[in-house]
Amino acid sequence: MTIILKCLNCKTEYPADAVRYRCDCGGLLDVRHDLDALRPQVSRALFDGRAAAAPAPHPSPLTDSGVWRYRELILPASETDIISRREGNTTLYHHPRLSEYVGVGEFFAKHEGENPTGSFKDRGMTVGTTQAKRIGARAVACASTGNTSASLAAYAAMAGMPALVFIPAGKIAAGKLSQALAYGAKTLQIDGDFDDAMTLVEKVCNRLGVYLLNSLNPFRLEGQKAIVFEILQGFGWNPPDWIVLPAGNLGNTAAFGKALFEARELGLIDRLPRIASVQAVGASPFYQSFKTDFREHVTMKAETIATAIRIGNPVSYERAVRTLAWTNGLVASVTDDEIMDAKAMVDGAGIGCEPASAASVAGTRKLVRQGIIHPDDTVVSILTGNLLKDPGATVAYHTGEWQNARLANAPVQVNADVDSVQRVIERVI
Ligand code: F0G
Repeated sequence: MTIILKCLNCKTEYPADAVRYRCDCGGLLDVRHDLDALRPQVSRALFDGRAAAAPAPHPSPLTDSGVWRYRELILPASETDIISRREGNTTLYHHPRLSEYVGVGEFFAKHEGENPTGSFKDRGMTVGTTQAKRIGARAVACASTGNTSASLAAYAAMAGMPALVFIPAGKIAAGKLSQALAYGAKTLQIDGDFDDAMTLVEKVCNRLGVYLLNSLNPFRLEGQKAIVFEILQGFGWNPPDWIVLPAGNLGNTAAFGKALFEARELGLIDRLPRIASVQAVGASPFYQSFKTDFREHVTMKAETIATAIRIGNPVSYERAVRTLAWTNGLVASVTDDEIMDAKAMVDGAGIGCEPASAASVAGTRKLVRQGIIHPDDTVVSILTGNLLKDPGATVAYHTGEWQNARLANAPVQVNADVDSVQRVIERVI
């Protein structure tokens, strides 16, 4: 193999097919590519050619998947091992009302909720399950606030592998729970929060020899790098000034920095966008650590309406700190009211997203108001999950259960006769 695993801390190296998620010293692992060997092999033209290739009668992930199109930079797997659902190729929306809302003319929202199971997790999971197949894993597992479990369940089902998911009981959105059950994952509801489930699943995987597919697993992050490669390619390899994303377990923050660093090392781009990671105030350990210049590593008991990012002890902390160093990045935090109003704006533009995703839009708006992002910057904000994931939060907002809903579109009770309906319509039109 042309790749190895390497500890971020002590730099110990392991073979790429080792079944391990941490170094013996406890440090996080990176997938390391031989960038010198890759440099002459990859180019903008190579990736542009693949993106332009018309889908064949028998589609191939090597051209059609927005992950495997960049396979040299992700995982050099053979086509027969790849478990793919044509991930990626997501839309970069540009909408005047959203530009006005955040205060940036060149504002774009990349909708990762358009992936096969409705979130960006599919980008990591196609790589994670492919690696699971390559090493002959007998089963796969994850802890999740919902989207990872939905994605794992689907990809494991496609691969014919048993899947175990650990979720905080009563704390994941209905759409996500329904997916895990429907795709046939053995679903374990834990009496505790995501952080408890995460600690538990790592122990279980180590004891039972089940392959762990949380973003602790570095192969997951390799797939998520493709979000950045697609953005860069979408901008003709001329990077935007900012990439703003919601942050929970910090997998994406970690993956984005690594993607940008490698893209520059390989000559695909010549400067790096700044990364802004956005947390919910009630689940903001990374923001609070950032405020101390990372002298303190803060953890907390997390609470937020954005259940996807209800995480108090993020696993990829060190990797995410590295991303901020590489990209001159920063961390912001937004209130649940700001998240829900931003979500209503995204939804009302006809685009739609789940609450956690809207943190990136709310965060952009806040950073513009603070004078950190400039109105003439080019900004890409990541919408991480689909509107349909969390119908409960959306309905609560619009029906009066969410107290400070500034943009509620309440349903109207109307008698079933034409006169009554006409009266309602005349008020609207
Ligand atoms: N947005 C959504 C919709 C998510 O589902 C998640 C994470 C994030 C943002 C945060 O991304 O963890 O890379 O910082 N969801 C995980 C899960 C934790 O279990 O589905 P991150």
